[in-house]
Amino acid sequence: RVSAHLAVLAGDGIGPEVTAQAVRVLRAVAEAYGHIFELEPALVGGAAIDATGAPLPPETLALCQRADAVLFGAIGGPRWGPSDKVRPEQGLLALRKGLGLFANLRPVTVNPRLAAASPLKPELLAGVDLVVVRELTGGLYFGEKRRDAASAFDACVYTVPEIERVVRVAARLAQRRKKRLTSVDKANVLETSRLWRETAERVVRTEFPDVALEHQLVDSCAMLLVTRPAAFDVIVTENMFGDILTDEASVLAGSIGLLPSASLGEGPRGLYEPIHGSAPDIAGKGIANPYGTILSAAMLLRLSLGLAPEAAVVEAAVADALARGVLTADLTRERPVGTEEAGTAVIHALKRLAV
Ligand code: NAD
Ligand code: IPM
Ligand code: MN
Repeated sequence: RVSAHLAVLAGDGIGPEVTAQAVRVLRAVAEAYGHIFELEPALVGGAAIDATGAPLPPETLALCQRADAVLFGAIGGPRWGPSDKVRPEQGLLALRKGLGLFANLRPVTVNPRLAAASPLKPELLAGVDLVVVRELTGGLYFGEKRRDAASAFDACVYTVPEIERVVRVAARLAQRRKKRLTSVDKANVLETSRLWRETAERVVRTEFPDVALEHQLVDSCAMLLVTRPAAFDVIVTENMFGDILTDEASVLAGSIGLLPSASLGEGPRGLYEPIHGSAPDIAGKGIANPYGTILSAAMLLRLSLGLAPEAAVVEAAVADALARGVLTADLTRERPVGTEEAGTAVIHALKRLAV
């Protein structure tokens, strides 16, 4: 029996819609296993800008620092322009930085039932099971930025300790999997990538001799992700490359709405969110795919609360719903279900599987 305090940051667009289903699933887990989850909502992103003027109000950051884990929906939308001084995305970046969440785990698996949802050939998708470990608090996202009338400047900076710690997370993960690690960079052009490659090489060779390390340039990695995706095990890469490659990798799974993520630091506290955004084009319609957020809640149970069996049951319940053809509009054109119906199917399966 576990008692946990969870911050729930629903955010904007479809964020509240998909988060609501993950919250229902967490409540069902608590009920089935006798845990006590205190779920405390807070403002972030555009919703927080509208209410308080700031994308990450101090109360929200303080709550997340107190909580055992954070469940996050999505932020952003057309109402808050990229040229505005205050933007929803700043809230998410400040939260990642403020909580010291430097490693973002983005697992990608393919459910055979969904092969038709992917534009890629089914034979190419067989056996895909990879995890991208994306560095989350460095690089272009957090470097110095400047702008004048005629030019703009974004610095990309990485220090050795920043590279070492995220490579260690990825190598430890590889040790528990197929022991294959691909470090992705652009070392033929970028100085930060040359430091990245040398550091990854040293850390893995000296601390993880049982892990097979290969280096790949990001452009060819993007190609290989859709030509031989089953060959990857763990991929480790810098912030921006990881952002782009994981949206690409979601095509393997069938929809970006399926992919969960865990953002971790030194301790057990983590932030869990689907990799997709606020999807303004479908927001408010009740048709968004909640599975990526529900699977993020499963990662929360496993990685922040130490509830591996419960996490596995949530994952099995999502697989069960998919196997029964409970598919949202991003996954099928034939009689798609809505967001809430998908959540209900997971809860029904969970109640059966939990006993
Ligand atoms: P997006 O991920 O929001 O949407 C891309 C496409 O995928 C859209 O067609 C959308 O309808 C679809 N999609 C995404 N999630 C889905 C789901 N769960 N179910 C069904 N379809 C889904 O990316 P975008 O349109 O480039 O960005 C929209 C806004 O979201 C921007 O403001 C961006 O900054 C923000 N964003 C936020 C996060 C986050 O909160 N972590 C991540 C990415 C983008
Ligand atoms: C993501 C998003 C964010 C990122 C944006 C909204 C800042 O795209 O979580 O993948 O680029 O990290
Ligand atoms: Mn992204």
